[in-house]
Parts: sequence; C-alpha cells; structure tokens
Amino acid sequence: MAVLSLLALASLALAQTSLDSFFPPASVVGFPGPTPTGNEPFEVATGPAAPAQTDYFPLVRFRPSDEAANGTYDPFAVSFGNLSPALSLPPTTFSPAFVNSSALIPPQCTLSQVHLLHRHGSRYPTSGSAPASFGVKVANNTGKFNASGALSFLNTWKYGLGAEILTPFGREQLFDLGVSFRVKYGHLLDAFGNGTLPVFRTTSEDRMLKSALNFAAGFFGIPYEDQYHQSIIIEATGFNNTLAPYETCTNGNNANGAAGTTATNDWVAIYLKDAAARLSALSGGLNITASDAYAMQQVCAYEINSLGYSDFCPLFTQAEFQGFEYSFDLGFWYSNFFGAPVAAAEGIGYVQELVSRLTQTPIATHNSTTNSTLDNSAITFPLNQPIYVDASHDTVISAIIVALNFSSLAATGPLPTDHIPANRSFIVSQVAPFGTQLVGQVLNCTSGAGPAQSYIRWLLNDASVPLTNVPGCTADPYGRCLTSTWVSAMKTRIEQVSFANDCLANYTITDVIGANITDGRPPASAVFH
Ligand SMILES: *[C@@H]1O[C@H](CO)[C@@H](O)[C@H](O)[C@H]1NC(C)=O
Ligand SMILES: *[C@@H]1O[C@H](CO)[C@@H](O)[C@H](O)[C@H]1NC(C)=O
Ligand SMILES: *[C@@H]1O[C@H](CO)[C@@H](O)[C@H](O)[C@H]1NC(C)=O
Ligand SMILES: *[C@@H]1O[C@H](CO)[C@@H](O)[C@H](O)[C@H]1NC(C)=O
Ligand SMILES: *[C@@H]1O[C@H](CO)[C@@H](O)[C@H](O)[C@H]1NC(C)=O
Ligand SMILES: *[C@@H]1O[C@H](CO)[C@@H](O)[C@H](O)[C@H]1NC(C)=O
Ligand SMILES: *[C@@H]1O[C@H](CO)[C@@H](O)[C@H](O)[C@H]1NC(C)=O
Ligand SMILES: *[C@@H]1O[C@H](CO)[C@@H](O)[C@H](O)[C@H]1NC(C)=O
Ligand SMILES: *[C@@H]1O[C@H](CO)[C@@H](O)[C@H](O)[C@H]1NC(C)=O
Ligand SMILES: *[C@@H]1O[C@H](CO)[C@@H](O)[C@H](O)[C@H]1NC(C)=O
Ligand SMILES: *[C@@H]1O[C@H](CO)[C@@H](O)[C@H](O)[C@H]1NC(C)=O
Ligand SMILES: *[C@@H]1O[C@H](CO)[C@@H](O)[C@H](O)[C@H]1NC(C)=O
Repeated sequence: MAVLSLLALASLALAQTSLDSFFPPASVVGFPGPTPTGNEPFEVATGPAAPAQTDYFPLVRFRPSDEAANGTYDPFAVSFGNLSPALSLPPTTFSPAFVNSSALIPPQCTLSQVHLLHRHGSRYPTSGSAPASFGVKVANNTGKFNASGALSFLNTWKYGLGAEILTPFGREQLFDLGVSFRVKYGHLLDAFGNGTLPVFRTTSEDRMLKSALNFAAGFFGIPYEDQYHQSIIIEATGFNNTLAPYETCTNGNNANGAAGTTATNDWVAIYLKDAAARLSALSGGLNITASDAYAMQQVCAYEINSLGYSDFCPLFTQAEFQGFEYSFDLGFWYSNFFGAPVAAAEGIGYVQELVSRLTQTPIATHNSTTNSTLDNSAITFPLNQPIYVDASHDTVISAIIVALNFSSLAATGPLPTDHIPANRSFIVSQVAPFGTQLVGQVLNCTSGAGPAQSYIRWLLNDASVPLTNVPGCTADPYGRCLTSTWVSAMKTRIEQVSFANDCLANYTITDVIGANITDGRPPASAVFH
C-alpha cells in the first residue's frame, strides 16, 4: 500500500511538473509592456478629507430577530467584539474635543514619521474553542432531536470551520489595509535612504505571517519580496516577543490572568438565560444551555467571517447582541485591559521599542519581552525609518494601549458582571477588531511665529486618542503632545511598570474582579509568596 501510494504521488508530481512546462512564468514569457511608476501618494497631507473604512464587502448583513425592516443596527459591525471587522470610528469616539480631528495631518504641520501597529485579519476560531465543541455536541445528537421554526436548519447543520488561520475575508482586510496605508502615507517611502529597504515586523504564527504578507502585497504590490524586509519574530512559549508577550508572562497564563473568562461566564448565564429557554423550546429534544447559546452566537460570528452568512445570527435579538459585545468587553477588561494585573507589563516591551525608535537610542536593559538579539541590531531593528509597521494580536494591542496609558479608555471604571452600564469607555469592537490599526503620527508643527516643534499623536481606527492624562501634555483639538514631553512620560512609565514583578513574581489575588483594578497592574491586595 505504502509503495503504491508513493508511486501515485510521484506520478502526480511528474504530471504536475510536465504541465508546468506549458505555463512558463512571466520572466520567461517577457513582454511586460511599459512600467513607469508615478509619484508616491500622500493622502493624509493632500486629501480634502480623510478616507474612511465603512464596509465589509463581500460578507452579507443580517438582521437580529426583533429588528424592523428599516432598522439600522448592524451587530456584526459594532457588537461582535474582537470578531467584528475594523471600521473607521467617528472622530469624537474617545473625546468630544476631537470634532475637527481625523487622519489628515493637522494644519501648519508636516508629517515626518508614522508608526502602525495592526492586528491580523479575520480568522477561524482558535483551537478547541466553544464553536467546535458545540459542533461536536450537535453532531453527537443529530437524528435524536427534531428542531423546528427558525432552528430547523440545525437538524442538518454540520460544523465545518477551520482553526487559527486567516479566512478569505481576513486576507482581504490586510490587503486593503496595505493599499490604504500606501495611499495615505506612501510619500514617506521617499525619505528612506536610497537602497535602504523598510523593515516591517510580525510573528511566526501562520495567520500573523500571512497577514503581514497580505499587507505587503497591498502596500508594495506583487512581487513585494524585493521591496522590503519582513522580520518574523518567533511566537512560542519561552521566546521574548513584544508582539506576543504572553509567551513569557507567567501570571498572564495562570489564575491571575484568567478573570476575564470568569467575568464573561457570569454575564453569559444572565444575558442568555431567556435565549437558552427560547431555543430549547424550538430544539425538539436538544438541551440548549446559556453557554450553548453563547457558542451559537460565536458560531454566528465565525460563520459570517468565514462563509459570508450564518443561519445562527437571526436567532438572536438586538439586546442579545448588545450582550454579546459586552461579553467580550468583560473578557478583555479583566484579562487584557486596565482591569487585568498583567496588562501593563505585557504591553511595556513595545513601549520600550517605541521610545527606542523615537529617540534613536538602542534599548539598554532587556527586562521585559524585548529580544536583545533582534532589538539591538540596526539591521533587524532600524531606528531611522520614516515608516514602521508591526503586526500583532487583539489581546496584545489591548495590553499595549494600557502600557501607553491611554487612560481615557478606562474612564468609566471597572465593568460590572451583572448588567451593561449606561456609559462605558471601553468597547472591544472599537479597540481590537480584526485588522484594528493603531497609528502614531510624528508631526513637525509651527504655531504663530515660533520655530517648528515635533509633536506626536495617536489614532485608533482613525479616531484621535486623548493624551491629556499624560503629565505635561495639554488639551489639543488634534490630540497632539510635544514628542519630547510624551517620550519622557513614557520613560517614567517604563520605570514604574515592572515585568519582573507583574508577570513573573509569585503572587495571589483572591478576587481579581472584586479588586477593581484600573491601572493594569497587581492591586495592593495581591499577596506575594
Ligand atoms: C422605522 O419605521 C417605523 C414605522 O414606520 C418608524 O416608527 C421608525 O421611526 C422607523 N425607524 C427608522 C430608523 O427609520
Ligand atoms: C471645529 O471647527 C470649527 C470650524 O472651523 C470651529 O468653529 C470649532 O471651534 C472647531 N471645534 C473645536 C472643538 O476645535
Ligand atoms: C460526543 O460523543 C463522544 C463519544 O460518545 C463523547 O466522548 C463526547 O463527550 C461527546 N461530546 C459532546 C460535546 O457531547
Ligand atoms: C419533526 O417534526 C415535524 C413536525 O414538527 C414532523 O413533521 C417530522 O416528521 C419530524 N421529523 C422527525 C424526523 O421526527
Ligand atoms: C534618492 O535618490 C534620488 C535621485 O538621485 C534623490 O532625488 C533623492 O533625494 C534620494 N533620496 C534620499 C532619501 O536620499
Ligand atoms: C531572540 O531572537 C533570536 C532570533 O530569532 C532567537 O534565536 C532567540 O531564541 C530569541 N531569544 C529569546 C529569548 O526569545
Ligand atoms: C440541560 O443542561 C443543564 C446543564 O447541563 C442541566 O442542568 C439541565 O438539567 C438540562 N436540562 C434538561 C431538560 O436536560
Ligand atoms: C528575554 O527576557 C528576559 C526577561 O525580561 C531577559 O532576562 C532576557 O535577557 C531576554 N532575552 C533576550 C535574548 O533578550
Ligand atoms: C520642521 O519644520 C521646520 C520648518 O519648516 C524645518 O526647518 C525642519 O527641518 C523640519 N524638521 C523636520 C524633522 O522635518
Ligand atoms: C527595566 O530596567 C530599567 C532600567 O534598570 C528600569 O527602570 C525599569 O523599571 C525596568 N523595566 C521593567 C519593565 O521591568
Ligand atoms: C470594588 O467596587 C465595588 C463597587 O463599587 C465596591 O463595592 C467594592 O468594595 C470595591 N472593592 C475594593 C477592593 O475596593
Ligand atoms: C508560589 O508560592 C506558593 C506559596 O508559597 C507555593 O505553594 C507555589 O508552589 C509557588 N509557585 C511557584 C510557581 O513557585
């Protein structure tokens, strides 16, 4: 048998090779026609208005079960937490002061540098998560239940999603991000030294690498291989990686980092209690619990992302989708955001790299998640680039936002696990959706007759983030702060946040949720052993 199948493989390969000769590559065919390149675009400087990402073509919109035909609520766009697509946020999302702010560079400013930190695109569920388990439960019981009404599709439904890797839509998201970044910032490529290629970074995980390459295809065009260097940082247990810091943060992976799951589960039992009863009544013999209903909402989200549409989505009401968003808000808040004891420490390595780039000074002490081999090399970690592009994960970008101390996102305080508060400053679908982009613009601005000075400002999915909590940064309609002031505040932050303590020390927090953490660090009540 083994010999036979080897032979079969060999003849297949032979057939493949012999067919290839009928399809010579472009380098053999020749005749490409004229190929002049034009000027680099610079839309953030030249556009009359900033372009906005508002669509998720080719996925199909659905309506919650109780939404009127003329309704405008789109849960996929605004209530699917980290499973929503990144769309441009209104300018005033993080502060009413920013009515006139956008990605366009402010008046009397020129742009000298841009830093992009983005998430990978839409992916299948992570290995062993609730959607696949729900698929097994249904498969185990298929033929033993007889669902009716809106749930009758379940009688023949089979779980069929992949795991971990990008979906086709996810590839598009990163390609589009690359195209839009080129159109907005391409002019900065002219400021690279002649013969110097940009270095962009990602991690070794398949969806991370493929996201970076799809970005490159959009940004540079194909073939992109000779137009930049892709740094691929190992993402695996024990390896230092500022774009995957959980690989070395012990407390992020034990009970101290698990409060988000507890908070989510507590909330699911409340907001999906009625849905569980309603769906069980339709299921004709399949017991659907609140956590099954939660798995069904997740299948809805993943099927839309992967297949374009899902029969599970119209089973739920508008309020249940608002509850769905809140389940993600709780999960992130207590495990990866200002309510988590390890968040600041997990994000601080990236802040150290940012300060290194902004000051053009190599990192002196490697005591967080930075890798001295990579970061202290001008080849793998250049300090003079006009454009920086780093790819990372949802939970990491959240932690970096904590390390950067964008505290306006924590303004409404700890999140209750039994109801959705009237106002909340933290919504995961705004902060960490698929393809989310955090952009730092370094600007050279004049005001009045004074000399030009260097400023920095931050845009999260095109909305300015306030820096007014940073000592020395003053109110500004475009969210700017003097770069020198901001950098010295970040240096202080780096001194205050201890990776050795927060991530590696042996401590117990009796009740992470009840501790009301709002600074992403262990509370005073933590007991050190
Ligand atoms: C939808 O139609 C209803 C009934 O005609 C109307 O009361 C409501 O204002 C409409 N809603 C929107 C968002 O247009
Ligand atoms: C926004 O721009 C308008 C028109 O120039 C101006 O009147 C208004 O004061 C600006 N608002 C803020 C908050 O800067
Ligand atoms: C499905 O059936 C298998 C084999 O009977 C069993 O081991 C497993 O626990 C079941 N899983 C679920 C989710 O019902
Ligand atoms: C399922 O229930 C419907 C009526 O609700 C019935 O017509 C049908 O025969 C049932 N199917 C099975 C396989 O029992
Ligand atoms: C690269 O070379 C071109 C053509 O000689 C020149 O115009 C440009 O200023 C150079 N760019 C840099 C960044 O040195
Ligand atoms: C640092 O990166 C280098 C190059 O990828 C790798 O060989 C080394 O194992 C990394 N060290 C740590 C501690 O992650
Ligand atoms: C449904 O499952 C829940 C949780 O496993 C269990 O407590 C309950 O008794 C089950 N209900 C029925 C009708 O089987
Ligand atoms: C990896 O991080 C640890 C802890 O911060 C540090 O002690 C070590 O020197 C780092 N390794 C490298 C290669 O940077
Ligand atoms: C900032 O602008 C001033 C005045 O236009 C100019 O002299 C200076 O070279 C610029 N600096 C940078 C870093 O672009
Ligand atoms: C790393 O070392 C520096 C310099 O000794 C210190 O100021 C800082 O607190 C330490 N940072 C972390 C993240 O542990
Ligand atoms: C946390 O906040 C809740 C609600 O405000 C309060 O009841 C509780 O005492 C606080 N816990 C701590 C440790 O401060
Ligand atoms: C942490 O301290 C406790 C209490 O002394 C001890 O039981 C436990 O083994 C320690 N954990 C580690 C990982 O060292």
